[in-house]
Amino acid sequence: MRIVVIGTGYVGLVSGVCFSDFGHDVVCVDKDARKIDMLNSGKVPIFEPGLDQLMMRNVEAGRLRFTLDLTEAMEGAEAVFIAVGTPTRRGDGHADLTYVMAAAQEVAKAAKDYIVVVTKSTVPVGTNRKVREVMTQTTPELDFDVASNPEFLREGAAIDDFMKPDRVVVGVETERAAKVMADIYRPLYLREFPIVVTDLESAEMIKYAANAFLATKITFINEIAALCEKVGADVKQVAKGMGLDNRIGKNFLHAGPGYGGSCFPKDTKALARIGQENASPMMITEAVIAINEQVKRRMVDKLLDLCDGSFNGKTIAIMGVTFKPNTDDMRDAPSLTVVPALLGGGAKVRVVDPQGRHEGEHLLPGVEWLDDPYAASEHSDLIVILTEWNEFRALDLTRIAGGMKTPRMADLRNVYSAEDARNAGFEGYSSIGRPDMAR
Ligand code: UDX
Repeated sequence: MRIVVIGTGYVGLVSGVCFSDFGHDVVCVDKDARKIDMLNSGKVPIFEPGLDQLMMRNVEAGRLRFTLDLTEAMEGAEAVFIAVGTPTRRGDGHADLTYVMAAAQEVAKAAKDYIVVVTKSTVPVGTNRKVREVMTQTTPELDFDVASNPEFLREGAAIDDFMKPDRVVVGVETERAAKVMADIYRPLYLREFPIVVTDLESAEMIKYAANAFLATKITFINEIAALCEKVGADVKQVAKGMGLDNRIGKNFLHAGPGYGGSCFPKDTKALARIGQENASPMMITEAVIAINEQVKRRMVDKLLDLCDGSFNGKTIAIMGVTFKPNTDDMRDAPSLTVVPALLGGGAKVRVVDPQGRHEGEHLLPGVEWLDDPYAASEHSDLIVILTEWNEFRALDLTRIAGGMKTPRMADLRNVYSAEDARNAGFEGYSSIGRPDMAR
C-alpha cells in the first residue's frame, strides 16, 4: 500500500519509517528543503535511538523516500497522514491548527482518487470534521474519508512504542476508511495488539484524556512526595506500595522535578481550554497544570536550601537538562525553570548533558557546557541530578565529593540515597519525597 506522511518532525518521521518497516511503500513530504536534503543523504534530523538504522534499512529496500513534492508523492496513495506541528498558540493557549488545515487543503488539491486523510497530530476534538469541511470546500468532487489516529509515542522509546503499542486508536466514519486503516495496521493486528476502532470525536478525546491522566498521576505522586518530606515518609516506598495495587499500577509514579516535554504540558493546556469552551471545566487538569509549575519552583527552593539561602557566588554543576533521558528535547523541561533561577541568583552554572547541548545553548544562555561530570563538579558547591541519564546513575560519588568545594547534592530524580551520599563523603543530600541527610 502507498502511504504519504506529511511532516517529517518527530511523529511524522517515526511513523513513516515504521510504516515502511511494515512493508508499505511510504513517501514522507516536508516543505523544509534542508530537512528533505538531510533525510535524502541518510541523516536523521532528530535524536531517537535506533531510528537512523531503521530508516536506512527501509530506504535501501526501496520502501521509503523523502520529497518536497506532495502532488508527485500522492500518485497512487491510499492514505495520507497529516503529522505537522500543532504548537500552543500564543495568547489564548489554543492548539494552532494553521499547519493542519493548510496540509488538508493541499491534499485536497493534489488528490485524484479516493483517499483517507488521517490526522496523527494531536488536535482538539472536532478538528477532523473541520479537516473534512476544508477538503470539501477546496475540491467538492473529491471522494475521500477522514480518520483520526492519535499517536502515543514516548520520546526515546518511540520505535518500540510504535511496533509494540499498548493499543492503536482509530477514529473513522465509514467502513471503507476502517478497512484502509485495518490494512495499514495489519502487521500489528496479526500480532494481536489491540486496535480500538471508534468515532472521530472519541478518538480525538482518548489522546487528551490519556495524556492528562498520566500528567495527573505524576503530579499526584509529586504532591505526595512533598508531604512525605514533611511527615518523614519515603515516597519510593509509598509509590511501590500504591503501585502494587493493580487498579493503580506501578508506572508513572516516579516523583521528580515536574513533568515536561512536547506532549503533557501542551495537551493538558489544550484540554483545559476545550473544557472551558464547552462550559465543562477540567478542574483536575487545571489543578495539575498549576501544581506542576509549583513543583518546578519547589526544586529551586530545595537548591537554595542546600546553598544556605543564597546562590550568589556559588558554582553549581547540573547533570542533565533535557526533559527526560534519551532525548535532546528541552521543551518545558524543569531545567528551564531551575537554571535561570540559579543564574539570576548569581550562581555560576556548569551543565553536563549527553544530548542537550545543541538546543540548550540557545535556551540556557550563560551556562558553561562540559562533557564530564567529574570536571563539572570540581571545586563546585552543589551538584544537581536533574535528568536521570544512565551516565549519571553510576557516578563515582566518592570521587565527586572529594573534588567539590562543599560536597552537597540535590538528587531530583531519586537516583541515589542519603546513605550513598553519606558514605561517599557528602555533607548535604536532598532528594524528592525522602528525608534529607541531616547537615
Ligand atoms: C508522553 C506520553 O508518554 C506519550 O504517550 C505521549 O504520546 C507523548 O507524551 P514523552 O513526553 O515522550 O511521552 O515522555 P514520558 O516518558 O511520558 O515522560 C513525560 C514527562 O513526565 C517527563 O518529563 C518525565 O520525566 C516525567 N515523568 C514520567 C515523571 O516525572 N515521573 C514518571 O513517573 C513518569
